Amino acid sequence: MRQDSGELRLYPDSEALSEAAAGVWTASAARAVAQRGRFTVALSGGSTPRRLYELLAIPKWQERTDWANCHVFWGDERMVAPTHPDSNFRLAQNSLLANVPIPEDQVHPIPYSDNGPAAAIVYQRCLIDFFGLSAGERPRFDLMLQGLGSDGHTASLFPGFSTLNEREKLAVGSPPGTLAPQVPRVTLTLPVLNAARVVLFLVAGADKATVLRRVLAGDQELPAGRVQPTDGELLWFVDAAAAADLKVTSPSRLIPSPHVGEG
Ligand code: 6PG
Repeated sequence: MRQDSGELRLYPDSEALSEAAAGVWTASAARAVAQRGRFTVALSGGSTPRRLYELLAIPKWQERTDWANCHVFWGDERMVAPTHPDSNFRLAQNSLLANVPIPEDQVHPIPYSDNGPAAAIVYQRCLIDFFGLSAGERPRFDLMLQGLGSDGHTASLFPGFSTLNEREKLAVGSPPGTLAPQVPRVTLTLPVLNAARVVLFLVAGADKATVLRRVLAGDQELPAGRVQPTDGELLWFVDAAAAADLKVTSPSRLIPSPHVGEG
């Protein structure tokens, strides 16, 4: 059964997609600070968001984020040292955080451990304390950045893993998925992803074309297909290569368009 998968916006390439994503970031940040005095964002990892992070650090964009009221978290992390090339923290630190005036105590990395579940418990406590959560409450991030793996995973929620069905915990440890890097992970759980005010998927490259079509056609076997904000906006920013298998009726309209996802 098809479901509303939010709004799709097509961009000619990754650079245009990243520029547009920077616009969503700065707009979300300005709205959050104006309404609540702070902006909370969960970063995604992998390679796609690198250009966005670099752009946010250049003067044109840097000046549009109130870094003094910005709080950065991660949607997932690989259990490797924070200096390891596969670290999602390292990606953001080198491309963004080291180059903007964000107070160090407003950067909340997922702790590295060779015991993923233990690290998840520490991270969950960090979320509970920061957001002042009561039992059963979930943190509501202003912006949740998401990527899409070619197997349909997002964050470190992998197809067929029991972590996908976790409804109580805010963060969990996960064994490696089938895609590199095959290391243990810590990930936010689906209810936390779906609690966000804005979920922004960034998808670029021809290798994502097949899986993107399946996700947007509502394939619930794929974790990314289960990201449906309960009271938030869902945006899919994709480049032309990743959109190659889609037949969308217009650049900014998606499902329940009858044309999306047809072979
Ligand atoms: C991770 C990411 C993951 C990523 C996708 C896409 O830690 O692996 O958070 O969810 O977003 O795998 O990765 P690419 O952008 O490298 O294609």
